[in-house]
Amino acid sequence: MTVSIKEAVKMLEKMPRRPLGFFPTPLCRLDALSEELGVNLWIKRDDFTGSNLFGGNKTRKLEFLIGKAVDEGAECVFTYGATQSNHAMQTAWAAAKNGLKPILYLAAVVPPDPEDFKANLLLDGIFGAEIHVVDLEEGESFADAERRSFRMGKEHIASLEKEGVNSYDIPMGGANVYGSLGYVNAMVELAGQMEEQNLRFDHMYHSTGSGGTMAGLAAGKALLGLDMQIHSITAMEVDERYAERAVKLANGALELIGASESVSEEDLIIDQNHYGPGYECPSEEATEAIKLLARREGILVDPVYSGKAFAGLISDVRSGRIPAGSDVLFLHTGGSTVFFAEKEIIGDLC
Ligand SMILES: Cc1ncc(COP(=O)(O)O)c(C=O)c1O
Repeated sequence: MTVSIKEAVKMLEKMPRRPLGFFPTPLCRLDALSEELGVNLWIKRDDFTGSNLFGGNKTRKLEFLIGKAVDEGAECVFTYGATQSNHAMQTAWAAAKNGLKPILYLAAVVPPDPEDFKANLLLDGIFGAEIHVVDLEEGESFADAERRSFRMGKEHIASLEKEGVNSYDIPMGGANVYGSLGYVNAMVELAGQMEEQNLRFDHMYHSTGSGGTMAGLAAGKALLGLDMQIHSITAMEVDERYAERAVKLANGALELIGASESVSEEDLIIDQNHYGPGYECPSEEATEAIKLLARREGILVDPVYSGKAFAGLISDVRSGRIPAGSDVLFLHTGGSTVFFAEKEIIGDLC
């Protein structure tokens, strides 16, 4: 049993939520690239979620996450990521806009110049975030530094609690069940646009990191009974329990809204072939994909997330994995601030 779009909207309306973005985001055909690639290629512009020039997928998640934080009477919002985290930057403005103090613990994959904060780190400061840069210790991996940053955050939250200050702790990427509701909602929004415009898609491509977007999309697809295949292109190497965690998130989100549908690991298509040398490391194929989309369509995808996902889409079309003439949707998840970040992250783009 699946539900109608109207019923899904009603189920989501019951959840705590603070309006943050501009919705629905545009859904447009890419005429020049459709012709060049031989597929019917569309794009959903979640880089335009708002509330400023630098939107992205986290805005949708944060509507529910900040809703929950406000509901719980939090005064501070904590979150985590890399120093150039898009998620941390969007959390900073979303918290500030709702009168909450953003506190960020950011692992320095690429160490920032303390005298010259760039891109997302600069924006974090403008939005008034309390920033804690967690430098990588000798021999420490990014994942280890992140785990250490979570512990530092937890200790900070506990010390504030002793002073009577209540905080809401948002995991990296906003990947909890509340955050995932943002992409259940996105799927419902997309289904509405498809119905209105008489469209259907065989395939959707998007970038995946924490897995929250993927989980929400899979949950939304199950809820509405859509038959599109969702290809999740990883921005980094992921561990063997990645799919299991995403399924847990998806089913947790469905349960939260009272849905009886569920998701299993077979519903996920996780493609680890396009993150290049690593997270925040430029790759040749993403560089080519970024230039192609920019030069044919005037649209920017970033070198860390959406550019690598778009490279995955191009690769599958060119290899014939996606048959010619298919209806393909690219979900643009944002990330363009990274163009103004450190050279090591963006590579040689021109
Ligand atoms: C631009 C962009 N695209 C995609 C993702 C991946 O989203 P998720 O963390 O929900 O998997 C991120 C995560 O930070 C992102 O910043």
